[in-house]
Amino acid sequence: MARQRKHLGDNSKENKSRTSSSSNGSNSSNGKVVKPKNMVSYWKQLAFIVVLGVTIIFAFLGYLETRVNTPLNERKVIIKSGLNVPEKFWGTYRPGVYFGLKTRDLNSLVTGLMWYFPSRLGPGGQGIRHWCEQSDNLQKYGWLQHDGSNFGIQEIIDNPFKLTTSFVKRIGGLNGGEWTARITVEALPKYTALVDKNEQVSLIWYAALDSDTEGHITSTNSNTNLTGIKGSTSTLGKFKMNLFAQGHVDHESFLSTKAPGLHLLKETVVSSLRLNQRVGKAGQIVLGGQITPPGGTLSDNNFVAVQVTGKLPLTIEVVFESLSVVNSDDRLMGDVYSKALEWHKSRFNQRFEDTFGLKHQGLSSEEIDFARNTLSNMLGGIGYFYGSSLVQSFYTEEPVYYWKAPLYTAVPSRSFFPRGFLWDEGFHGLLISQWDIDLELDIIGHWFDLINVEGWIPREQILGVEALAKVPQEFIVQWNTNANPPTFFLTLEYILDKFEQDLSNERLALLERLYPRLQAWYHWFNSTQKGSVSGSYRWRGRDAFTNRELNPKTLTSGLDDFPRASHPTELERHVDLYCWMAVASNTMTRLGHLLGRESYLKYQQTADYLMDTQLMDRLFWSNFSKRYADYGLHTDAVKLVQPKPTPRQQNQNMEMIREVLKQPEYRLIDSQFGYVNIFPFLMKLVDPSSEKLSQILEDIRNPKLLWSDFGLRSLSTNSPLYMKRNTEHDPPYWRGQIWININFLAVKALHYYGSVEGPYRNDARQIYGDLRKNLIDNVVKQYWKTGYCWEQYNDKTGEGSGCRPFTGWTALIILLMSESYD
Ligand SMILES: *[C@@H]1O[C@H](CO)[C@@H](O)[C@H](O)[C@H]1NC(C)=O
Ligand SMILES: *[C@@H]1O[C@H](CO)[C@@H](O)[C@H](O)[C@H]1NC(C)=O
Ligand SMILES: *[C@@H]1O[C@H](CO)[C@@H](O)[C@H](O)[C@H]1NC(C)=O
Repeated sequence: MARQRKHLGDNSKENKSRTSSSSNGSNSSNGKVVKPKNMVSYWKQLAFIVVLGVTIIFAFLGYLETRVNTPLNERKVIIKSGLNVPEKFWGTYRPGVYFGLKTRDLNSLVTGLMWYFPSRLGPGGQGIRHWCEQSDNLQKYGWLQHDGSNFGIQEIIDNPFKLTTSFVKRIGGLNGGEWTARITVEALPKYTALVDKNEQVSLIWYAALDSDTEGHITSTNSNTNLTGIKGSTSTLGKFKMNLFAQGHVDHESFLSTKAPGLHLLKETVVSSLRLNQRVGKAGQIVLGGQITPPGGTLSDNNFVAVQVTGKLPLTIEVVFESLSVVNSDDRLMGDVYSKALEWHKSRFNQRFEDTFGLKHQGLSSEEIDFARNTLSNMLGGIGYFYGSSLVQSFYTEEPVYYWKAPLYTAVPSRSFFPRGFLWDEGFHGLLISQWDIDLELDIIGHWFDLINVEGWIPREQILGVEALAKVPQEFIVQWNTNANPPTFFLTLEYILDKFEQDLSNERLALLERLYPRLQAWYHWFNSTQKGSVSGSYRWRGRDAFTNRELNPKTLTSGLDDFPRASHPTELERHVDLYCWMAVASNTMTRLGHLLGRESYLKYQQTADYLMDTQLMDRLFWSNFSKRYADYGLHTDAVKLVQPKPTPRQQNQNMEMIREVLKQPEYRLIDSQFGYVNIFPFLMKLVDPSSEKLSQILEDIRNPKLLWSDFGLRSLSTNSPLYMKRNTEHDPPYWRGQIWININFLAVKALHYYGSVEGPYRNDARQIYGDLRKNLIDNVVKQYWKTGYCWEQYNDKTGEGSGCRPFTGWTALIILLMSESYD
């Protein structure tokens, strides 16, 4: 995860010079032999040639300019979506809200929940819950069960109250089927004594259309039932949503209006709330009813919300019915709903045990519940987005829009990162493919349909207004020079390990469509991230000119502030990228071979070349410190200092700057030791009989270096930059904290070295057992203690840090529990 996902193009000069060299090339046309007699025609000819040359240059520049947002000209991987996949049509595809459903339609009807407790409502709508916000400070929220398709149950603790939100889907009809959502609010048993018996809750259920959706929605009023919502869209046909309440309803109200956009629904609700004064009684906070904005008409309304206010405990059911389904006798509500939910729950539990075998492993019920919830949060966090990224290349003067495209993807964090991230998704895929390989192939297919003609995929996907509203301005634009670890090759390797024998024709056909896109992606990495020395690679996007950063970040590597060469240059080489390329080459070889493509031989050559440990050792092994390391222009003698004020400028920005105390020199950066240094081991590139393996195992196990009781820390305690801030404003991020994705790779590698012949097999087994146990124990303990999975863990206390919930790659703990690595 990259918290500061800043792009910093370091190679603008390279590219600018390439541009000018192409204009030099056209000058050669001047060298034609021209008869001096016919001067007029000479000048005409010359003018023609110049005009032609200039036209060609502009056409060529224009061509280069368009490449960044031109899709790769190959068949799409995803050929079936929307209504053609009814079982995946409706879903909780809005991971950024606490509860809501939408469809896998490019422009969908969206539905969702807001709630508040009237006695606790603050000014400006403070206290209304809608988007997952860390600042809401909920004690816990997340899916207890969710199978990624048919149903889910979520628990939300908003002290001293508990909300339970669930849904069940039913396939049928021509328009994607039906569903029911149930929301129950009650006081937590341990707090019932503290809660006033008249305490109320207001539940707001809404439906909204985005501006591109063809259709309309309105509220429905019936005398006996609560206000409902009905409407029609081109995909859904005619539908209605009826609300039913159980419990003591005090009052209900509704709002039907035109919202300025899906990112402003809460604001729209807040601005319509008003207080109904009642003589001798407490006022009622109600929604504004029918509001037609000036100049608009009723049919412009794209937002309908219904508010039900009642005493606790209160339950509402929202029954979404499609007119194309003729089946009204067992309406999905009340007991029918409860039964369906129970049926799905027990089926889910059975499938969970069949897949991961945790009971069989003898794990405690605390551990199993953690695993079940965490898998559910990964699956329940899958979203469906539609929109276009803002991208930039050196040939575009300004950021330009990518083509509009859908993305079906899991997300790292529903609160902090509720959108797709390229390298996170490869890790998510390891878990998701285990649960449902077709679901994972669907996700991979969507990602690779986002590849451009250059072979590049933007690493952070900000699609649609809701996603955009969560991203700070400076992180929006994605540069086409910048990579991100190609983790999907790991996912594919895992899929090949597990399912190679079991690939149906449909899956094979999908891989066939994927292959040319993978090739383009591979070649993009192999060419644009190439290093200066043969066989080496270099992450682009480091800032060579900053004097603010203690060690210029490498956001593209995914490991943001992990220390690299102190002075970025074109001669540096990165050991982690080298290893990613070895894995990529190997996976391409296997996949090409499986699909019977001749091209696999080319990948095999590169794989053999990179997996040759002599090359790897020559490029990265330090005889002196006995470890692998990056190479580059480096000095450890740097510190952040307060700049001395110059007398002339009084109010200058006194931000700390870096002082270099000793000239940097070209060398292996082996004075730092952490995740980057063990990549050859993580990717299983070290020979099992090599003494280097023994050394790495020793260093991993050393508590002064990477070992802690809670997992492997990212940077050893004796590294110069251990837990150091990178600037005044950037606290350490990958400089000591424990990250679960890399720990997963370590456990997986230990499992491998513990199972193949070799002199260090027993050491590997021993460390495998200890590391696995430490990780599981701590993440489970923190989950029950705090209610969440975390982005990272403290190496001294084991406590979670960074953002929460982070059920992205932290969920890989489940695979450690079930010991399924390949
Ligand atoms: C809601 O209205 C329908 C008829 O429109 C009726 O059959 C049903 O009983 C009503 N439900 C409740 C809870 O009032
Ligand atoms: C990767 O790039 C190197 C040169 O940088 C080339 O020799 C090799 O053939 C390429 N690998 C593939 C599979 O194209
Ligand atoms: C490291 O040691 C090996 C084996 O002793 C030797 O072949 C190699 O040249 C040494 N590398 C450097 C950079 O000194």
